[in-house]
Amino acid sequence: MTLTFDPVVQFYDFHPAVDDFRTAVLQGLTQPQKAIAPQFLYDKRGSELFDQICMLEEYYLTRTEVQILQDNATEIAKLLGDSVLIELGSGSSQKVRILLEAAPQVKTYVALDISRQHLYESCKALMQDHRQLETIAICTDYMRSFQIPDLPVLQNQRVGFFPGSSIGNLEPDEAVEFLKNLASVLGSGALLIGVDLKKSKEILEPAYDDAKGISAAFALNLLTRINRELGANFNLDHFSYDAFYNPIGRIEMRIVSLKDQVVQFKEMSVPFAQGETLRTEHSYKYSVEEFQALATKAGLQPKQVWTDSQQLFSVHYLSW
Ligand code: AVI
Repeated sequence: MTLTFDPVVQFYDFHPAVDDFRTAVLQGLTQPQKAIAPQFLYDKRGSELFDQICMLEEYYLTRTEVQILQDNATEIAKLLGDSVLIELGSGSSQKVRILLEAAPQVKTYVALDISRQHLYESCKALMQDHRQLETIAICTDYMRSFQIPDLPVLQNQRVGFFPGSSIGNLEPDEAVEFLKNLASVLGSGALLIGVDLKKSKEILEPAYDDAKGISAAFALNLLTRINRELGANFNLDHFSYDAFYNPIGRIEMRIVSLKDQVVQFKEMSVPFAQGETLRTEHSYKYSVEEFQALATKAGLQPKQVWTDSQQLFSVHYLSW
């Protein structure tokens, strides 16, 4: 007889209501520069597509960050001590496995993600492999203000883990506010954060507009989600995707209207001119010094930084 272990995930659901999505979309589509915040890209399909992006040859970020974490796992594990580990944007919870393996003294892991089903399944899979680990899943839009439940098990020293360079999807002034808020939510603690480094546009642009078209499918899935959840009638054949490096230090990703057209919502119609863009994401790139200055502005002190040999990516340890 084989015994199967079927863990029950402690799950807190603070997922934003559909109304929040509707309000964000309708507001975003009535601005002079149409824009929708990146967190809305991550429905179930969006999260799957993002996982595929992370495995692309062109998207060096994931494998480079994984390598940095692996190469420095022992040193990082020492810094973590027996803290409660709180991951923002846990996705498939792959990177945290490197830390958990190097730091068996960590007994409690909190995963925050906006994608409900993905979060649930990832935590369940993690618990199969780490049966002693107390795992708590919180479905929330952590890019906006968020809370952590007041549980006795979470009273220990907390260390935030924010890999993937998602901080780059915020404008720099928003990133400062985000870090300040994070420090106050975590209380006394520290943060291990992945930050993509500045580099040539020959490397950056294909990373955000790959040959297989996965990045394009990821962005355009937002229109499919809006059609499904908000009853709009975007015709995906009439839009394309585009990404370019703006030398001020960011990749700009947008959906482009291929013709003059009007998209119908229940409560309004939204005109698009041919060539008009809908911004889906900015992805800022920082030198080590630029990011340390940004963190210092938020009241965090740079303690340690690791990079790879090609200087593609950085992982910072900051405390406050
Ligand atoms: C989640 N975030 C860090 C990704 C990035 O690199 O800015 C989002 C992304 N969008 C398209 N490709 C990757």
